[in-house]
Amino acid sequence: MKIWLASSNKGKRKEFENLLADLPVELHGPEELSYYTSPEENGDTFIANARIKAKYLAASVNEGWVLADDSGLECEGLNNMPGIHSARYAGDKASDAENVAKLLKMIKLRTNNRKARFVCALVAIDPNGQEYVFEGELKGSIASKQMGTGGFGYDPIFIPDNHEQSLAEMTSAEKNRLSHRANALKLFKEELRKHL
Ligand code: IMP
Repeated sequence: MKIWLASSNKGKRKEFENLLADLPVELHGPEELSYYTSPEENGDTFIANARIKAKYLAASVNEGWVLADDSGLECEGLNNMPGIHSARYAGDKASDAENVAKLLKMIKLRTNNRKARFVCALVAIDPNGQEYVFEGELKGSIASKQMGTGGFGYDPIFIPDNHEQSLAEMTSAEKNRLSHRANALKLFKEELRKHL
């Protein structure tokens, strides 16, 4: 079964590959479509943005499933920012390092509350055009400084509840046992198994 994954983020892509490795699926990406340009993510929720990406890619392919993820980090003490703006928190073309630096600075300036959660919304569209929505979360807190070099995005400053290491200090297998993406994908995989 082919799954077209609407994401070009290499960190996410790798996680999807690992998390789907136990199913007989072939992952494909929009980079294989020479005519493809990414849609504007102008929704105001994770689900709305995942739906925009899924529908846009589904209109460009005519076989298999389409799967889109929209994810981000919500910090309680910052009114749930950066949220849907996580990828561009420090500016349109911001690097992971710039986003992390801005978040550490904002927390230091604005709040003592370091509670946070990662959220992952998945929108899947099956070969008949039916849509499915799944959500996963991972609760934790924001570290006072970067810890570790693994993973991507905000992993070096996120410590899951009941753990001492940041996500960037864990192996990818450890992160994939707990993550918001893994939790959402578990639900997707249950649905997919019904169709295999
Ligand atoms: P999206 O590609 O628009 O969904 O943006 C997601 C952004 O949220 C990423 O660029 C990261 O900054 C952040 N993010 C989402 N999931 C993770 C994760 O598992 N670890 C670290 N950062 C993440």
